[in-house]
Amino acid sequence: MKSKKLIIGNWKMAPVKAAEAKKTFEKIKMAASSLRKTETVVCPPSVFLSELGKISSPKCAVGAQDAFWEMEGARTGEVSPLMLRDAKAKYVIVGHSERRALGETDEMAAKKVAAIMGPGLTPVLCIGEKNRDAEGEYYKFLEAQIAASLKGVMKTEISKVVLAYEPVWAIGAKATGAITSSALFETVIFIRKVLSKLYDKETAFSITILYGGSVDENNSGAFLAEQGVGGLLVGRSSLDAEKFVKILKIAEGL
Ligand code: PGA
Repeated sequence: MKSKKLIIGNWKMAPVKAAEAKKTFEKIKMAASSLRKTETVVCPPSVFLSELGKISSPKCAVGAQDAFWEMEGARTGEVSPLMLRDAKAKYVIVGHSERRALGETDEMAAKKVAAIMGPGLTPVLCIGEKNRDAEGEYYKFLEAQIAASLKGVMKTEISKVVLAYEPVWAIGAKATGAITSSALFETVIFIRKVLSKLYDKETAFSITILYGGSVDENNSGAFLAEQGVGGLLVGRSSLDAEKFVKILKIAEGL
């Protein structure tokens, strides 16, 4: 496991104006530049990526929220990993539940993961159950989702993939609340067991696992303190520079 905490902001479809995106990014970048134990990434809407890419830095990188699985071709509306690399993106979110809700399948996610690694970008593969049932059926769902979304990813490549565990019920304005840190701890152990089965134990421990879902400046410390949690994928709280900087400083202070 990497010693640096990886904190990724997912801005989703906001803000509306490029000037605001730049202003927020500049504030985050300024705070991130003094951190030594934290890696910061901001994933803006793709239309702002190139502009923010130009002012990004090793300590405050940019990432994309999606990519297509082919490098070029007649694909109206899609963006290729090569274009993202040219825009200076270092990371690409894949299979976010909001995209899966629009029809993205495990199979599509697996193709995207492989394509993104081609030009040397890091995929951030999102996984997570829709609900938690008392019988623990969600564990089976998670296992199947992980296996299918990583289909074809070789052992030699898997440590380059970042996994983001984002329980769907904990994401966004309709969330029923964030997960408890003990439930997160247990789930991360389970995810590593699944990865051990798919690859091996050593490989499973080399993979960075992030948590995402209603993360804010009040609960981030508890999540990051859980063993095995390598960082956070932050939605709403990453659009507010002050809140996001607080989360970064909490990560740095651990
Ligand atoms: P949230 O979103 O922090 O607003 O719950 C997280 C995500 O969707 O990545």
